[in-house]
Amino acid sequence: MDEMQQQAGGVSYAPSPPEEFCGRQEELEQLSAILSQAGEHGQTVVISGPPGIGKSSLLNRLAYEVQERPGGRQSPVLRAEVFDLPGMIFSAFRELLNDLRRSSASARFGSILDAESMKEAIRYADDVFEKYAAPVEPVGLLPKAGEEIVGVFARSPEVGYDRVYQAFEELLRELGREMSMTGHVAAVLLDDVHLASSHDRRLLRDVVRDLPPGILLAFTCRTEDGAGSGYVTMQEEIRDLGIREVQLHGMQRHEIQELGERRFHVSIDDAAAGLLAESSGDPFGLMACFNALRNRGLAPSRENIADVIAGANDPAGLVFAALPEPVKAWTEDLCVLNPPFPVPVMACMLDLQGADVTLMTDRMQENGMFRRLPGGEYAFAHPLLQEHCRHDLSEDARVALNARAADCFEHSIHRLPGRLYVLLSLADHLFHAREYGKATDLNLEIGLRFHHRDDHDTALMLTERAVVSAGRLGDDALLAVAERQRDLIRQKVSGPVRPAQ
Ligand SMILES: Nc1ncnc2c1ncn2[C@@H]1O[C@H](COP(=O)(O)OP(=O)(O)O)[C@@H](O)[C@H]1O
Ligand SMILES: [Mg+2]
Repeated sequence: MDEMQQQAGGVSYAPSPPEEFCGRQEELEQLSAILSQAGEHGQTVVISGPPGIGKSSLLNRLAYEVQERPGGRQSPVLRAEVFDLPGMIFSAFRELLNDLRRSSASARFGSILDAESMKEAIRYADDVFEKYAAPVEPVGLLPKAGEEIVGVFARSPEVGYDRVYQAFEELLRELGREMSMTGHVAAVLLDDVHLASSHDRRLLRDVVRDLPPGILLAFTCRTEDGAGSGYVTMQEEIRDLGIREVQLHGMQRHEIQELGERRFHVSIDDAAAGLLAESSGDPFGLMACFNALRNRGLAPSRENIADVIAGANDPAGLVFAALPEPVKAWTEDLCVLNPPFPVPVMACMLDLQGADVTLMTDRMQENGMFRRLPGGEYAFAHPLLQEHCRHDLSEDARVALNARAADCFEHSIHRLPGRLYVLLSLADHLFHAREYGKATDLNLEIGLRFHHRDDHDTALMLTERAVVSAGRLGDDALLAVAERQRDLIRQKVSGPVRPAQ
C-alpha cells in the first residue's frame, strides 16, 4: 500500500472533467445549435467515434454547457452509462430515473420538479420497470446446501414492453412540459449506447421517435468495434430516425497544444504537435504519451515523443509499460470483473480487509487507472485499459481469476444490492472458470427466463454457454436439454416469425 502511495500520480484516463476540457470548438458549436432548438422540438444527437477519441469527455462538457447557459442552473441534467454485461434490463434507463428522483429532491430543481404529477410519473415508471424485470430478476439470492446459488424469482403480474415504453414516454412528456413552462431544457445523456442490448435499444429508438419539446437527448456510440458491432446496427436506426450525428476525429495541432498546457502544464512546439496529430491524435493516445513523458522526466520534444511512441504497440501498451508493479497487480486482479465493480467484490478479489479496504478506495483513483462511479462502484478509468489487461492475461490466470471472482460474488451476495448484476456476473465467471456443473445450471436457468422475457439475444448467449458447459461435463442428458432450449430460442432469433415490433 505504501509503495502505491509513492507511485501515485499521472493524469487520470477517466473522461475529462469539464473544466479541463480542451478544443472541440466546432463540435461544441454544433451541440449548442441543437440544444437551442430543443425547447421547441425535442432533439436527439449521437456523438460517435472510435474508442479513446473523447466521446465521454464531450458528453460531460455538454452537461456543463447546458448548466452554464443563462438560466441553465435550473436545467436538470440526467446522466447514465451503459456497461457491457448483457441482460441488465433497462439498467441505464433506471439510472436515469434515479437521477431524476435525486434532482427533484434537490433544492435547486425543487420548484421545477416539485409538481405532484411529476412525482407520480417517476413513481409509476419505477414501478413498471421493476415489474417488467421481475421474471428474470431474483428477489433474493440464497446460498443453498452445497454452495449452490439459487435465485428466488418474483411472481409478479406480467408487464409487457408497451407499458414500459408508455410509462417512460409519459415521464419525459411531463418533464418536457415542466421545462417548457419555465423556458428551460432538460438534458438526458447516455454514454456508450453501442453496449446496449436489443431491448434497451428498442426503448431508446421508440423514445427518440417521439421526443417531447423541452428535452435534449444525447448519447455516445463507439465505432470500430469490428463486424456485428452495436454501431453498425445503430447506424441504420440513426439514419431512419434522422438523428443528428457529431463525429469525433483526432485532435488538431492547436488542440493538442491546449491539452498539453491545460492538463500537463507543458508547452508543445509546432513540430511536436504536428507529429502527434499525424500519429492519430486521439486524446487517449495523447494522454498516454504525455503521462509517459512525465514519468520518464522527458521534455515534450519531437524526438522524445517519437521515441515514446515507437516504444509501444499501442497507447494502452504504453500505459501498462510505465505502470508501477502494485498498480499493475491490481489491474490484473480486477480486469475479469464486469463493471460497475462493487467495493466488497473488489476487496475480496484483492484479498483486503478492514481498514485496508478504505485505503484501497482512496488509492483506486489516485493512480489514474480507475474511476469512481456515481453509485459508489468502480470501473477502469477507460475501457481500453481493461480490454488491454484482459487480452494480456494468460489462459491459466484467466481461469483462476474467474474462479476467484465467482467465489467472491458467492461470498458477498448478502451485501450487494444489484441482484440481476450478481446473477449475470456469476453465470459469466463460473463459465470462464470452467466450473461447468454450476455454469450449466445457472446459465440454462436464466437463459430460459430471458427467453420468456423476449430478450432472445441474451437468452441465446446464456443458453449457448450452457450447451458448451454440458458438453465439457460429458453429461448427455443435460446437453440434450440445453440444445433443445438453444434451438427453441434460435427459431425466435432468426425464424421467419419475429415478435411484433
Ligand atoms: N477534449 C478533451 N480535453 C481534454 N481531455 C480529453 C478530451 N477528450 C478526451 N480527453 C481525455 O482522453 C481520454 C479518452 O477520452 P474519453 O472521453 O474517455 O474517450 P471515449 O469516450 O471516446 O473513449 C480520457 O483520458 C480523457 O480525459
Ligand atoms: Mg467513453
